[in-house]
Amino acid sequence: MDNGNNDVQAELDSVEAELELVELQLSQLLQKQTDLTSRRNFLLQQLEEACEAALPSSSSSSSSCRLDLQHYDGSDFSWSADVQRHLSDSFHLSTFRKLQLRAINLTLSGRDVFVVMPTGGGKSLCYQLPAVLTQGFTLVVTPLVSLMEDQLMALKAVGVPAAMLNASSSKLENKSVLAGMVDPSSAFKLLYVTPEKIAKSKLFMSRLEKAHKAALLSRIAVDEVHCCSQWGHDFRSDYKLLGILKRQFPDVPLIGLTATASTSLLNDCSNILSVREPITVSSSFNRTNLYYEVRLKSSDSDAITDICSLIKNRYNQQSGIVYVFSQKDAALVSAELQKRNITAFPYHANMNPEDKTKVHRRWSSNKIQVVVATVAFGMGIDKPDVRFVIHHTISKSLENYYQESGRAGRDDKPADCIVYFGFSDVFRISSMVVMENVGQKKLHQMVNYCLSLDRCRRSLMASHFDEVWDDEDCGQMCDVCRHPTDCSEVDISTHARQLLQILECASSMDERLTPLKLVEAWLGRGPAKHRKLSHVTTLSRSSAESVVLHLLLQGYLREDFSFTPYTTHFYVKLGRKSSLLKDQSHSVSIKMRTAGGAGPQVLMFLIFLIFQLLLYVHINKAINTTKPFYEHFELIFAYFYPFSTTPPNS
Ligand SMILES: Nc1ncnc2c1ncn2[C@@H]1O[C@H](COP(=O)(O)OP(=O)(O)OP(=O)(O)O)[C@@H](O)[C@H]1O
Ligand SMILES: [Mg+2]
Ligand SMILES: [Zn+2]
Repeated sequence: MDNGNNDVQAELDSVEAELELVELQLSQLLQKQTDLTSRRNFLLQQLEEACEAALPSSSSSSSSCRLDLQHYDGSDFSWSADVQRHLSDSFHLSTFRKLQLRAINLTLSGRDVFVVMPTGGGKSLCYQLPAVLTQGFTLVVTPLVSLMEDQLMALKAVGVPAAMLNASSSKLENKSVLAGMVDPSSAFKLLYVTPEKIAKSKLFMSRLEKAHKAALLSRIAVDEVHCCSQWGHDFRSDYKLLGILKRQFPDVPLIGLTATASTSLLNDCSNILSVREPITVSSSFNRTNLYYEVRLKSSDSDAITDICSLIKNRYNQQSGIVYVFSQKDAALVSAELQKRNITAFPYHANMNPEDKTKVHRRWSSNKIQVVVATVAFGMGIDKPDVRFVIHHTISKSLENYYQESGRAGRDDKPADCIVYFGFSDVFRISSMVVMENVGQKKLHQMVNYCLSLDRCRRSLMASHFDEVWDDEDCGQMCDVCRHPTDCSEVDISTHARQLLQILECASSMDERLTPLKLVEAWLGRGPAKHRKLSHVTTLSRSSAESVVLHLLLQGYLREDFSFTPYTTHFYVKLGRKSSLLKDQSHSVSIKMRTAGGAGPQVLMFLIFLIFQLLLYVHINKAINTTKPFYEHFELIFAYFYPFSTTPPNS
């Protein structure tokens, strides 16, 4: 009987291993299909453009559709003169950015429009400008109070009247706004509300109906429209109820705006909002002025030291944001920055609203240099001259990273987006997103972005946003393109088998290993019983961590969680592909830095640094300054550090 069971078990193992192999081949084929499809689309687009250039009066349906849209880029509408006048008189801007005019003309024609433009691309103008030249007011739905405040501040600065309603509005404010909604001589052209107002306040909805009857509800703008869909990265349940607006007021044009939405996500949004056949105006995700960089984080304290040094030197006197994982980190990191005389303040969801507003205002007026924030300081924060956005911890998805880092350089001048990538952070975030739909998958895409050694950071974003990308277009504005590392394909099958052996041994001892304990055991450290589990690897800690992460992304390892009332514990287990490694002919490979590849460069750099240091000491003696020694070192380091995009001011 036992023998029979053993046979069945053996066959089951072999069938499962074969299935895994087929799955692997399938995933490779799917990847190839994706690459080929995007190449085909690119070529088709080129062909179509060439045909159109040759035949300007072509009557094919796609080109006539494009011509229709091109018509909305023009200035021969009855409102065109007013649009130009308000652009300069009300908003003090000289020209439109790409696709703004098209979106404005479409919404002024009464069409329902979805606008997809990069963060900082200038989406707000697409509804703010039509608002000032239309009778009545535009209702703007935004997900966050901080976002409303920011918009109101900017509108106040240019003298466009606007109002807002949210949970913290006083009774008096509520009363005056509700009265203003049905008053033809009302003092506001834009009314900002949170989605809760629409979902939960009957009084507000009845007032909206009255405004509509009096022809005063001129337009509905839904900012951050991706929040409607639970497939997006920032789903808000109250956004799901916004469909009521278009059902109640079908003749009022709706404009939805977002920086991150795929076609399928927008389809979902249009269903939720009850918008039939919206026209989508979308431009490339690419922000050419942003420099993307990933730095390895060996420990939190090292990262903080590095961040302090960057802010004091490279970004001396310049405005920026440091994003952190938790409220505790916000307090801790800002305290560390303050210790170094940097005016940094924390910002997180648990602060009282007045404190949040105060930090936001003081930062906007450059009285605070750095906001150390959780993602609560997010969407819609619009300060033009943010020169750096540093992530002390990785974001939970690439969409989130794109949006958070997109706070930088909104004035189109160069700005840096640096993310510190730490091994243990991956698992901190993993336990946070475990309950989310596809949370793990999205986190893995972010990890892949950080792990990549040889793919342009922009190209990874492009494939994420379904865009065809040519690496040349990066213009060396990412660390991979600017400082290519010598790396090659390395077979890590032996490493993978050693890790599997550790996990199997631990499991036979009824032990579960956290990622940290797994790496420690592999490095021959930690408790004695763990050290005996397998061969000790000769890899460095960072390479060992990188191998573990790659195996996790590729499915040879997987995450396992256990919940307590207070916390979520995280362990590593054998992944679905692990059985493939039982077959000795199966191999796994990853890109790794070529050992010694950067050696000569590093040596040259060190010699150069020592030379500069000696020179400094010499000059110091000559001018007899009392500045502490390490400050000079920081200064030299910041100036000659090879990733710098903007030379330090001092
Ligand atoms: N035509 C223009 N010319 C110059 N500056 C502009 C123009 N349009 C918008 N801007 C500026 O660009 C900045 C970003 O605009 P906005 O806040 O509308 O971005 P956004 O697309 O909504 O970004 P996010 O996705 O982060 O909300 C603002 O400071 C705005 O004043
Ligand atoms: Mg915006
Ligand atoms: Zn690049």
